[in-house]
Amino acid sequence: MISPTIPVQACRQMNLDYAAALQHVAETIATAPALPRRVEFTSVVAGLGAEPPRGHVLLSWSCGPRALRLEFDADGLVDTGAIPIAARPRWGATATCSPRCSPGWGPIGSCTAAPDPRPVSRRGGEEPPLSKPAPEPFDAGRLVELALGVMRAARFPFLATIDGDQPRLRPVSPVRTDGFTVYVANLRGYHKTGEIEANPRVELGYLDEHHDQVRITGVAEVVTDRALLQSIWDENPLLRQYLGTIDNPEFLLYRIRPERVRYMKEWALDYHEVPPG
Ligand SMILES: Cc1cc2nc3c(=O)[nH]c(=O)nc-3n(C[C@H](O)[C@H](O)[C@H](O)COP(=O)(O)O)c2cc1C
Repeated sequence: MISPTIPVQACRQMNLDYAAALQHVAETIATAPALPRRVEFTSVVAGLGAEPPRGHVLLSWSCGPRALRLEFDADGLVDTGAIPIAARPRWGATATCSPRCSPGWGPIGSCTAAPDPRPVSRRGGEEPPLSKPAPEPFDAGRLVELALGVMRAARFPFLATIDGDQPRLRPVSPVRTDGFTVYVANLRGYHKTGEIEANPRVELGYLDEHHDQVRITGVAEVVTDRALLQSIWDENPLLRQYLGTIDNPEFLLYRIRPERVRYMKEWALDYHEVPPG
């Protein structure tokens, strides 16, 4: 609740800051692998007015697969942090939603310490407790659809090849995707050309914004069918711009034939075999 003694301009500014911070929360939650069980908000406002603004708003979400912390004052966002549970050594810890109290951060509502007006470093402060994520169930009958959705959303998969006894990996931008068959353009001068010649076994890895992944294990073969080359050439302006002519000797097109397709939801930790079609 904002005190009526706070100047209207300051209230407006705070409302803007609230809106910005809440939008940030919404965006963070939107990309989280599962919905949080609880999000806590509070506002601790002090000293607004003629004095330099020192009001603090703290938001903390300490249950679920991510720890989310936000702090802002009347000047705007001071610090944010969203820490994936996988990055923490306490993976698999029992769920705890119990509040903790610290001067800067804390579960709001039970914290009696005065808010610390100093900016907190992005990685600083105490981390709230985390819980083991509960994967959302999904309909296995929709695996193909889900996997194709990840591929569409991810856009730039990583293509893995084998270089002797050394794996190699690079982002690529498929020029056509037909089910789980993926077409990737290449320049003859690139290193993967020789790697694929020597060993055509490859893997494509897609990761979407929810951290769901699709892995396509397959074999890369050079496309020589002129009609197919022409149709892919015609529908890819970037190819045309970059290579000038379809007969550019640098132009190579791979068809990656899928032998195995696997789908994994971020927190499920299980592979799901998808029929490659
Ligand atoms: C977003 C993005 C998309 C790319 N798409 C392709 C691609 O479709 N084909 C390709 O050969 N290289 C592509 N590259 C460049 C590769 O990542 C890599 O640098 C290049 O293939 C040379 O790697 P190599 O020598 O291991 O073959 C892309 C790079 C980026 C950043």
